[in-house]
This record gives sequence, C-alpha cells and structure tokens, in this order.
Amino acid sequence: MQDAIGILDSGVGGVSLLRRAVHWLPNENFIFYGDNRNAPYGPRPFEEIRELSAAAVDALLQQGVKALALGCNTITAAYAEQLRANVRIPVIGMEPALKPASLARRNGVVLALATKATLSLERFARLMGLYGEGVIPIEGKGLVEIVEAGKMNSPEAHDALAAIFAPFMGEQVDAIVLGCTHYPFLRRQIEAFFPGAQIFDGMDGTAQQLKRRLEAEGLLADRDAPGEIEFQSSGGPESIELMKRLFEMEI
Ligand code: DGL
Repeated sequence: MQDAIGILDSGVGGVSLLRRAVHWLPNENFIFYGDNRNAPYGPRPFEEIRELSAAAVDALLQQGVKALALGCNTITAAYAEQLRANVRIPVIGMEPALKPASLARRNGVVLALATKATLSLERFARLMGLYGEGVIPIEGKGLVEIVEAGKMNSPEAHDALAAIFAPFMGEQVDAIVLGCTHYPFLRRQIEAFFPGAQIFDGMDGTAQQLKRRLEAEGLLADRDAPGEIEFQSSGGPESIELMKRLFEMEI
C-alpha cells in the first residue's frame, strides 16, 4: 500500500486508536499491524517487550510506511525513545491520559488502569510526578486477554473487572484512565461499575497529534477520496476478523 501510516499494537487493542485516526485523517491509507501471536506484552520482561516491539515495527517499516503511530501504551513506554533514535519517519506514541483526568478530579480519586509494564516503567513515574495527586495506578489484570479472545460481553469480563475494582467500590471515583488501548473496548462494562466517573482514553489527543505531525512534515495525503485500511497480524485469520469487528463496534 502506497504512502500508508503504520499503526501497531501487541494485538487488537490499537484498533481503538486506528478508529480515531481514520476519523481525523479520513483520506490517509493505514496499515494496522497486531502482534497477536505474542500478545499480551504487558506481563513480559522489558527486554522481551523491546525485542517483540522491534520486530513488529520492522514488519511495518519493510512496507515503507511514512509514519508510525504506536497504538500501545506498553510499546511506547518500553521502546519509543529507542525507536525514535533509529528511524527518520515520525513516531507518535501514547501515554495514559493522566493530565486531563487529573483536571476532572474533585474530592475523589482517579483510577489509572494500565498494564504491569506501563505502570512500572520510568515514563509513568514521570507522569505521576506531574499529575499523580489523587491518582491510583491499577494493573488491568486479565483484561487484554479477554479482549484478544473477543469476549468483551462475557461473564469473564465482568468478573475480571469486579476483581480489579473491588477495593474501590463505595469510594468516590471521579475519573478513570484507560491506559491501555485494549480497554476502550470494555468501556461500557467499566462505566457500569462507576456510573459517575468520567472516562479518559487519550485516543483523540494522540490521533490529533499524528495529524499535526504529518501536517508539519508535509506528509499529508494529497487526495480527496477516502483512504484504504489494511489489517495485518502475526496471528491467524481469526485475529484479522476480530480487528475488523472491533473497528466497527460501538463503544
Ligand atoms: N494495548 C497495549 C497497551 O496499550 C498493551 C497490551 C499488552 O499487554 O500486550 O498497553
């Protein structure tokens, strides 16, 4: 595919970013690549996450993408800096939306859900230093696996969320940060636990940042027609089917 923007994730989660990127950049071509064979990345050691991220990035670079959007907080935290030092095309990363969520905090707390790797890397500590007052980081244990299995509306999804949120039931939760790109596909289920909380997933900010970078570098597609989208995976055809389903799903 000519002049495409590459978006990648450990699996299907980054489709949540792709959706917003297509909204803001409807004339662009996109290749979405999910490393479904190796998802989840979050519980793995950093060195392994870096190696897997490098291979996934390579799969897109070999196709001549003009920019890369890391549709994954974990890959961004573990690998974005190293990647930027080694490639000449724009690289847009993602990080948990602590800043806007902290502004929405009143007298209660902000729950910041992310993977184990994202929460333990330095980038997150820096964010906490800036916007962490009243923010409680929580590992979204098991949630990536549930979305990878396409079981968003299952009893397993409900039970996993109930276990994660149990310590906070009855507390005033003002905002929830979805700090992993898989989690927006569980948004409705999450909202049901804390109906008054505002949800922040950072997707629009990242997609707009991608647009600004392309504009600044003179890389925007020069066409009026809608662009094309291609889904690719290191996994099987069922992963591609799931990506397409998530691309259309109402969230
Ligand atoms: N979707 C990824 C993120 O945003 C992580 C999923 C994983 O653990 O592989 O952090």
